[in-house]
Amino acid sequence: MDWKEALPKIITQPDIRLRFGEPLAKHTYFGIGGETTAYIEVNTINELAALARFHQKWEVPVAIIGRGSNLLVNDKGFSGISVRLIDELAKLEVDGNVVTVGAGYPLPGLSKVMSKQGLSGVEFALGIPGSVGGALIMNAGAWGSSFGDVVTDVTVMRDTGELIKLTHDEANFEYRRSGLNAYFCVVGATLKLQHGDVDTITAQMQDFFKQKTETQPFAEENAGCIFKNPPGDSAGRLIDISGLKGHRIGGAEVSTVHGNFILNMDNATAADVLDLVAYIQKQVREKMGISLQTEVKRLGFDE
Ligand code: EPU
Repeated sequence: MDWKEALPKIITQPDIRLRFGEPLAKHTYFGIGGETTAYIEVNTINELAALARFHQKWEVPVAIIGRGSNLLVNDKGFSGISVRLIDELAKLEVDGNVVTVGAGYPLPGLSKVMSKQGLSGVEFALGIPGSVGGALIMNAGAWGSSFGDVVTDVTVMRDTGELIKLTHDEANFEYRRSGLNAYFCVVGATLKLQHGDVDTITAQMQDFFKQKTETQPFAEENAGCIFKNPPGDSAGRLIDISGLKGHRIGGAEVSTVHGNFILNMDNATAADVLDLVAYIQKQVREKMGISLQTEVKRLGFDE
């Protein structure tokens, strides 16, 4: 039997939550990418564990795509299973200043709900459109804060379907990375926030959001910052002073607002984006002597 015939058997309601040949462009903020062999909205821990074991048994690649906000998918698509976590895997519980949140929960929603509860620590996150799981793996951040700073522990799943709880230190948070990629899936986390005044927290959150809309593009399709900042500098600033703002390859263009954003202006392909990435890297290396490393995740390029 082929894995595609076996897959519906491990999913409850496969007619509702499983699709074959799903275009990934519609699941990414870039709006770029071909089809995934299968797309599943996984709604329980048990189903996720069954999928982990399925992935091991059939040796089929599985990608947890989160909310697709930091993802560049190959024009040829992804030969494997793309997963979005919903329901039981996207829950939020608040107990005093301790917050338990599922990996599928949206980061902007978390920021908003916490401000209403008078809990401080994630005001920076309103403008980061990813999922909690993606924010954990990437240690997403802005305005001097990173998501890992408020995390006390992270629950992850192994390929065997076993759940394990990692402490903050075991998660190995660093600038825009963590050690969480080593597991089949990040399931959720516990956060410790600080009690504070609702109005002060809300004003701070809105102020960060305003700064974002003033300094970063938001109308056009993009995947957030394309490059990591080199130590002590801003990739956007380096791209800017290298004269690359507005440079275009195919449908992909360097934002004229912030140099570290590539925009899908006109049906850009993943190839256009990668050609532009390579061009920027070459120019910044030649002009500034600095090698920029990409931050955006790629899917479908290695298999
Ligand atoms: N700058 C320019 N030209 C540009 C862009 C920036 O001169 O085109 C200058 C700015 O004027 C400022 C300095 O460079 O003096 C830093 O710029 P900014 O405050 O925008 O911060 P950044 O270092 O470019 C980082 C994060 C962003 C985050 C902002 C705000 C990375 C790669 N980028 O950008 O995160 O939103 O700080 O805190 O760490 C992301 O991770 O996807 C992302 C967008």
